[in-house]
Amino acid sequence: MARWFALLPVPLVAAAALGRPQPAPVPYPEGYREWTHVKSMVILDGHPLADPFAGIHHVYANARALEGLRTGSYPDGAVLVFDLLEAAGGEAVYTEGSRKLVGVMHRDAGQYAATGGWGFEGFAGDSRTQRLTTDGGASCYACHQGQAVKGYVFSAWRK
Ligand code: HEC
Repeated sequence: MARWFALLPVPLVAAAALGRPQPAPVPYPEGYREWTHVKSMVILDGHPLADPFAGIHHVYANARALEGLRTGSYPDGAVLVFDLLEAAGGEAVYTEGSRKLVGVMHRDAGQYAATGGWGFEGFAGDSRTQRLTTDGGASCYACHQGQAVKGYVFSAWRK
């Protein structure tokens, strides 16, 4: 038994003893408002996604994520942003209110292997540092898993 254990490569022993290393925190998507706008959607109270996604959201893609939307395969470095704003008004018109959160999917197949190769994070309001996930993005991934055949992405590119 001791001899068999000694034959295991050192990193494997270390990984077994310490568990998987923690993935790096998902970076704040600096400059995403100047990326490509993919689509927008309004979610009102009563919709299954209203808690916590009620409001007006816009989806943005950086150049690599745009490549993924077009080909179906997302290279490392692809970033998608879900920019959620309050839906203000409501009397026959809704306008953008204050920002509720910035949802991020950051592609790094190795780093975020446990969540489909995507790092999931939410940033509260206009904050670049106040993070919203407490489970390493597992609950985000649980819902996005339904889109596994599309690289875990719901949004599609349109003309
Ligand atoms: C209950 C289901 C559900 C959960 C949980 C969820 N999402 Fe999503 N997410 C969606 C849906 C549906 C869309 C597509 C919205 C649209 O079509 O405009 C989406 C879109 C996105 C997008 C734009 C790319 C895409 O897939 O269309 C990002 C980025 C995103 N979500 C991040 C997150 C993050 C980060 C979390 C966790 C904090 C999260 N999501 C949790 C359902 C979910």
